[in-house]
Amino acid sequence: MNPLDATKSGFLLCIAVCMFIYTFIYLKDALSAEPGEQKLSRNAAECGFYPDELCSALFMGKTAAFKIGSFCQHTYQPATLSCIHTSCNCSTVLKALHFITRPLSDEEGSFSLAYIITIHKELEMFVKLLRAIYMPQNIYCIHVDEKSPTDYKAAVQNIVNCFENIFISSKRENVVYAGFSRLQADINCMRDLVRSKIQWNYVINLCGQDYPIKTNKDIIKYIKSKWNGKNMTPGVVQPLHMKHRTQVSYREYVGPATSYVYPTKNAKTKPPHNLTIYFGSAYYILTKEFVEFTLTDARAKDLLEWSRDTYSPDEHYWVTLNRLHGHYIRDICVYGLGDLQWIIESPHLFANKFEPATYPLVMDCLERRHRLQVLHQAEVSIDDDWRLQEDNYFNMKLNV
Ligand SMILES: *[C@@H]1O[C@H](CO)[C@@H](O)[C@H](O)[C@H]1NC(C)=O
Ligand SMILES: *[C@@H]1O[C@H](CO)[C@@H](O)[C@H](O)[C@H]1NC(C)=O
Repeated sequence: MNPLDATKSGFLLCIAVCMFIYTFIYLKDALSAEPGEQKLSRNAAECGFYPDELCSALFMGKTAAFKIGSFCQHTYQPATLSCIHTSCNCSTVLKALHFITRPLSDEEGSFSLAYIITIHKELEMFVKLLRAIYMPQNIYCIHVDEKSPTDYKAAVQNIVNCFENIFISSKRENVVYAGFSRLQADINCMRDLVRSKIQWNYVINLCGQDYPIKTNKDIIKYIKSKWNGKNMTPGVVQPLHMKHRTQVSYREYVGPATSYVYPTKNAKTKPPHNLTIYFGSAYYILTKEFVEFTLTDARAKDLLEWSRDTYSPDEHYWVTLNRLHGHYIRDICVYGLGDLQWIIESPHLFANKFEPATYPLVMDCLERRHRLQVLHQAEVSIDDDWRLQEDNYFNMKLNV
């Protein structure tokens, strides 16, 4: 199969799987609840013990749960997070937002991940992501878009101030979709990260709409087992239909209401150093050595300069430098309730494109399940503040 076909079929497969799961859950026999569940008292007639009962049924792929969930997620407004819009002192921030404050095992304590998180809106979603991936031995660089509102920046700063291992990148970009600024934002964070006193092994980049499916421990085990010393930045030789991205010069337009990238009539020169341009994921998991290489190597620097006026350079820069062929680690789907069962069964580390406003229950369920798993794997004693929910009968089924 040629690389272009591989790219396309990966995407088609993604869509096919989404559609299949959706259909499957719809057609599956209604109301397959086990007898034991029915005896439990319910808070509200339809929504049951919300949301854990629905979450556990959704993860098991029960039809009725999918239908009821669509209704209930709009009846129950998800509880707003404390200390986000009001100011709290740091000990309250840590407790109220359930941050984990000690490494959960020796293995995790001695393997640090660095995260780059690029955000511009949706404070709650960012905090949910941050508290899910936060571990005291890791390090986090947050790139807040220069054009974000002042109160948003201040709210992020307030939370960040409570942690020695979380910081806002020293240089902020006005990020334009598909523009060089998106790549520059990552590089700004990398420069800060390599200068940090905190040692780290790998760096992972995320955006504010991503959410982890695996625990910190799972991610480390995955890296160590399959990728030790290697980068994860899947891609293929630049397909023909992508060539325009690097053949003419592009510019960023930054206006008060809208920003975008547009092509000019100027043809671009060939890539420097005879580099073959690859195309792939803008998401990566990279070793510290590779990051140091990209920040110092002459070819990497020249490629960066050459990429300044290309379309979506983050989708060729890392892949080209790494020259790694492979399959996509992350496919792109917008997740709905019907996808939950598929998401947890997938080997992927992160899911992206969450839209909490459309599917609030998806976020609630993933978050609850993720934290239960994290605590279940812990090899140290657990603080009560680390739990997102009270113990209940349905947790056991979530914590698979
Ligand atoms: C933080 O705030 C809480 C609640 O307002 C208060 O009980 C606690 O004493 C404060 N802690 C510090 C260190 O100021
Ligand atoms: C680029 O590659 C071509 C063909 O492989 C070769 O003839 C040329 O010398 C190379 N140029 C550089 C600068 O390496």
